[in-house]
Amino acid sequence: MSGYVLAIDQGTTSSRAILYDASQRQVATGQREFPQHFPRSGWVEHDPEEIWTSVVDSVREAIAKAGIDATQIAAIGITNQRETTLVWERTTGKPIHNAIVWQDRRTASLCARLRRAGAEPAVMRKTGLVIDPYFSGTKLRWLLDAVPGAQKRAEKGELCFGTIDSFLIFRLTGGAAHLTDATNASRTMLYDIRKNRWDADLCGMLDIPAEILPEVRDCADDFGVTDPALFGAAIPILGVAGDQQAATIGQACFAPGMLKSTYGTGCFAVLNTGDTLVRSRNRLLGTIAYRLDGETTYALEGSIFVAGAAVQWLRDGLGIIARADETGPLAEQADPAQSVYLVPAFVGLGAPWWDPEARGALYGLTRNTGPAELARAALESVCYQTRDLLEAMRKDWRKGAKAFPGEVDTGSPSGNATKEATVLRVDGGMVASDWTMQRLADILGAPVDRPQSLETTALGAAWLAASRAALWPDRQGFAKSWSADRRFTPEMDDKHRRRLVKGWKDAVRRTLTNG
Ligand code: G3P
Repeated sequence: MSGYVLAIDQGTTSSRAILYDASQRQVATGQREFPQHFPRSGWVEHDPEEIWTSVVDSVREAIAKAGIDATQIAAIGITNQRETTLVWERTTGKPIHNAIVWQDRRTASLCARLRRAGAEPAVMRKTGLVIDPYFSGTKLRWLLDAVPGAQKRAEKGELCFGTIDSFLIFRLTGGAAHLTDATNASRTMLYDIRKNRWDADLCGMLDIPAEILPEVRDCADDFGVTDPALFGAAIPILGVAGDQQAATIGQACFAPGMLKSTYGTGCFAVLNTGDTLVRSRNRLLGTIAYRLDGETTYALEGSIFVAGAAVQWLRDGLGIIARADETGPLAEQADPAQSVYLVPAFVGLGAPWWDPEARGALYGLTRNTGPAELARAALESVCYQTRDLLEAMRKDWRKGAKAFPGEVDTGSPSGNATKEATVLRVDGGMVASDWTMQRLADILGAPVDRPQSLETTALGAAWLAASRAALWPDRQGFAKSWSADRRFTPEMDDKHRRRLVKGWKDAVRRTLTNG
């Protein structure tokens, strides 16, 4: 049978390829982890060749496992870690430097300089972003300064800038296409999300030559075809979105007021705000949720840099667990009388604090504190941070407040938009833990829905490509097929919740360097 759809999910720590059949069923996956490079404190790099090999190998693995021929794949959707910044040669496709990863803080002082010079209001107005090393713009500036001759070569059009999607499209099409999509462009700090175009003033502020920028397309669009030498067929690339936006689509958050939160390396909460670009007064990001048929849907986003990474730290840094899935059961054994808080500011704090200089801290340690309390503190830190984001969103999204978690009756866990608007939809590795999801509902004081398909990021990318190819149902049809595997409802009493949340807020206050 033909009509398979391939999703390529290029994440921060691994690349995955997932094949779906015409009925949206997952038939095979391939996955490869790749090394993280930490050349200095606060710096995080990826070797683009390692990323590329991991992508090609996972695609080949998925195709082999499915026992199909690449000619049976009708469309490819790409989703990716966002903001991670690459520059490569237009003629050879060879990167001029390692990729600078979204978590990298090396441009903190440049960002501080820009803020001092009063650049932030214009940046916020045009891009919806705050000035932070998180976004690609200052990383690109750093690359063009650090590599001898790069600025000149960029001006002559010899170099290409791109986020990972753009690099993959370039390589997959054998160098034929230098493109990106609107969601990835919206994370560069160079793109005006109101006008949907690269902004000459922002590029000027960072001295970025226009020649280096990719062309920006809709999320479901024509991104070229794969070089047949790679997989044995010229497969059209028809969908592209940054991973958090793809997860928003995969969670079928198509109606304004619908909200999802993804727990991967970091945690990213995205609230669909429809055709309204909400100006955050609480240091959330305004961003593009998706652009389809030339129509832009906006979102409010809260980005936390450390979620699953806190569990990795328990495993790899402290060695108190051997596997990530041991964390929930260990946390369950924690002494309820101890109030231990972890503020996991390992790479600074993201929304709503935006403090790149803050570093992680543990509070409330006693002689009785052991692995179980640390495990609980790590998992709870993710729940508290989600609560901080949702509180900020609630303040910003007054219009949608009546349909916001914790404020109204929650409806039933079906696939329908209006009722679902009252619940947080979750996905990502950490949500497999029932303990963590119950704790999340308790700390939020709001219901949490875990979907049947936890691969929402890949599913979103697959839907973009498959709907473009007219293989899968449209938005409404796709939203109907979404269903919850389980709803977690709050069980904690208000007084207890308030006491815990107050302890967390005190801990954050003591950790901030800019507060
Ligand atoms: O903004 C960064 C985000 O896109 C990374 O996501 O899932 O690779 O941690 P993830």
